[in-house]
Amino acid sequence: MASNDRKPLISGNWKMNHNHFEAIQTIQKLAYALEKDDYEAVDVSVHPPFTDLRSVQTVIQADDIPIALGAQNVHQETSGAFTGEVSPTMLAKLDVSYVIVGHSERRELFGETDEIVNAKAKAVLAAGMTPIVCCGETLEERTAGQAESKVAGQISGSLAGLDAATVGDLVVAYEPIWAIGTGETATPEDAQQMCGHIRSLIESEWGAAAAAGVRIQYGGSVKPGNAPELMAQPDIDGALVGGASLDADDFSRIVKYPLYQA
Ligand code: 13P
Repeated sequence: MASNDRKPLISGNWKMNHNHFEAIQTIQKLAYALEKDDYEAVDVSVHPPFTDLRSVQTVIQADDIPIALGAQNVHQETSGAFTGEVSPTMLAKLDVSYVIVGHSERRELFGETDEIVNAKAKAVLAAGMTPIVCCGETLEERTAGQAESKVAGQISGSLAGLDAATVGDLVVAYEPIWAIGTGETATPEDAQQMCGHIRSLIESEWGAAAAAGVRIQYGGSVKPGNAPELMAQPDIDGALVGGASLDADDFSRIVKYPLYQA
């Protein structure tokens, strides 16, 4: 795809790390490290654990920080007898903008299917937020030459029933499972190939405008050192960062990737 006007989105998925005191420190350090130019070039979101959301929201509001608040998961129902779950409307009330759905850890460790991910994505949209819909293959699937078909199934299943305008506004994160937390990153070429594949799948199911609008993030051992090259790929519109997002210095260096591009 030729040059585009998709604004990159760099998201920090803190997973089950940082209590609310640590979260406050991290967001404050991040706000200190990032400048107006950074926010003009790149959208930034942080995804703390549920117990930290209110604390981080308060800091963001009080200091008028242009970082979007995100969540890592959500339940698909609005309210009811779902012990331990958090609803989309509860997140929206905390000014959450982005919600990760279908992260591979949710799919693998908590049994989330494409149907569940699809229901969650729809619930997030209904509450006025943007889902970050995750997909990605295992090492075995890649070795067996099944990576593209696995991701294709996840995309059609997870986005089923959404209209083209909605798909054009959402975020997809391609995270090869073998690259998550392993220090092993997909090469920029491999990451580009799969992100390009995802964009063409979206084009064939939802049309050219949806494909041109959807932002596709890469995730899996993104670090300050490899971010510039990954982000230079034409179909990579951002990064979903795990480990390196816990440290404000590392994460801000990733956000500042344009400074390190040739
Ligand atoms: P790492 O950056 O720690 O590999 O995690 C990636 C990820 O799963 C982000 O959602």
